[in-house]
Amino acid sequence: MNSRVSLIAVLLLGIPAGAWADGSAASVELQVEADHPGARIDRNIFGQFAEHLGAGIYGGVWVGKASPIANVRGIRSDVVAALRALKVPNVRWPGGCFADEYHWRDGIGAPERRKTTVNANWGGAIEPNSFGTEEFMDFIEQIGSEAYVSVNVGSGTPHEAAEWLEYMTAGPATSAGQARAANGHAEPYRIRFLGIGNESWGCGGAMTPEYYVSQLKIFSRYVRNYNSAQTGEAAMRRIAVGPDGDHVEYTEAVMKAWQGKVWSWDIEGLSLHAYTTGGWPPRHPSMHFDEGEYAFMLQDTLAMDALIAKHSAIMDRYDPQKKIPLVVDEWGVWLAPLAGTNPGFLVQQNSLRDAVLAALNLNIFARHADRVRMANIAQMVNVLQAMIMTDGERMLLTPTYHVFRMYVPFQDATSLPVQVDAGTYAYGNARLPRLDAIAARDTRGSVWLALTNVDPNQSVRVSARIAGVHPRAAVGEVLTASGVDAVNSFDAPNTVAPRRYAGAVRDGAIMLDVPGKSVIVVHVQ
Ligand code: AHR
Repeated sequence: MNSRVSLIAVLLLGIPAGAWADGSAASVELQVEADHPGARIDRNIFGQFAEHLGAGIYGGVWVGKASPIANVRGIRSDVVAALRALKVPNVRWPGGCFADEYHWRDGIGAPERRKTTVNANWGGAIEPNSFGTEEFMDFIEQIGSEAYVSVNVGSGTPHEAAEWLEYMTAGPATSAGQARAANGHAEPYRIRFLGIGNESWGCGGAMTPEYYVSQLKIFSRYVRNYNSAQTGEAAMRRIAVGPDGDHVEYTEAVMKAWQGKVWSWDIEGLSLHAYTTGGWPPRHPSMHFDEGEYAFMLQDTLAMDALIAKHSAIMDRYDPQKKIPLVVDEWGVWLAPLAGTNPGFLVQQNSLRDAVLAALNLNIFARHADRVRMANIAQMVNVLQAMIMTDGERMLLTPTYHVFRMYVPFQDATSLPVQVDAGTYAYGNARLPRLDAIAARDTRGSVWLALTNVDPNQSVRVSARIAGVHPRAAVGEVLTASGVDAVNSFDAPNTVAPRRYAGAVRDGAIMLDVPGKSVIVVHVQ
């Protein structure tokens, strides 16, 4: 590229000059510092959240044994197959706000004898309790995941929570274990993660940080896991309620209490809830939006980075060794309810924009992998930024699903620092780095690159070099569509779907054309 073209590229396109072999356009240099590996990207940051809310469980996961929809013991098989492909590391259940009004005994035993209640948090729906402990654990086993159970702190008691843990994890010699066996499961369940309350600063009881801390100490002491197989690395991790967005009071109070704790209680995680809403209440559309809306919401989502940095800095003061992970167990874009739906069911469409937004957040989590070791997108099926939508027997995979599937190789991979500057994408008042990228080395030693070009109007040519690696090829997938607001519908379920993608290799560099508004993941060979 001659210097005049290069200057024009910089001035007009905002792209730093680089060398592209055919000289046809500017390219951006990207460096992967493979010789300075960072933290492991814990697979648990790809966790899901499934609340009793709208069709999140009933219809979305549970159809009942007598349903004409293909199912195994009442759990729909198409959803299970789709989730297995995501290698979902953990699922948070039963809520959300629902968890602090959930009484686990309502959901065990013979289905015809289970209590029918009202889901007061979410649209006043009738809760048949057909999906309870046994069904959730069956679902976890069918998709090959781990259970993240939230106990009721708001309206429950330490006794009720302790008895639930006993029921799930005690051995066959105990009455609790025998009750579980009578309900079909003689072996103790494996409960990998336990949430002690949910949003105790809000729907979970509007507790002051000090009040919550005193509850936390009691619950954390008595929610014992009796499963003798869960020792050492496999031990259950207790996750305390932490901050709401950028409010620091819970972060300070819980971490301070933890630093000065006595032997009888402990936690192994601090939760953060942070949605991308563009203001409250959520009123931004999930369909038929323009570029201004696209740029605004993507800029809003980048606040996640500063948010994590803010809470991490506080945690560092009390926990410099980073023993306690920050668990972003509710995140995602929360948009206006779709017209004609029950507003309490939180139904929204899922666009290419939301896929880009998911990639940007996963990249942020990966860059904070030393502290963020778990996250749960809200929510798994039919609710908020869902992976999957169902309509009776029909099912579709959303653009966000495809990003989670493309990112599977990053699970438990070691992050590798990336240097790149492709200039700024600007629209209206929004200003965003045009290109975002992460890299990682998987457990078998292969390097993976994920690139997101947020600019909808301009592709970016990237020349990537990886320290110490002599690439032969870079192959993978690209996710893009004709419009930023493109969605998958039941009539056109593959409007936004990944396609095969290959970069070229020249002089030891990987040459990648990253289309506008796209997410690319490539395996470097
Ligand atoms: O995900 C929907 C709701 O958002 C959850 O129930 C609650 O925890 C949060 O406010």
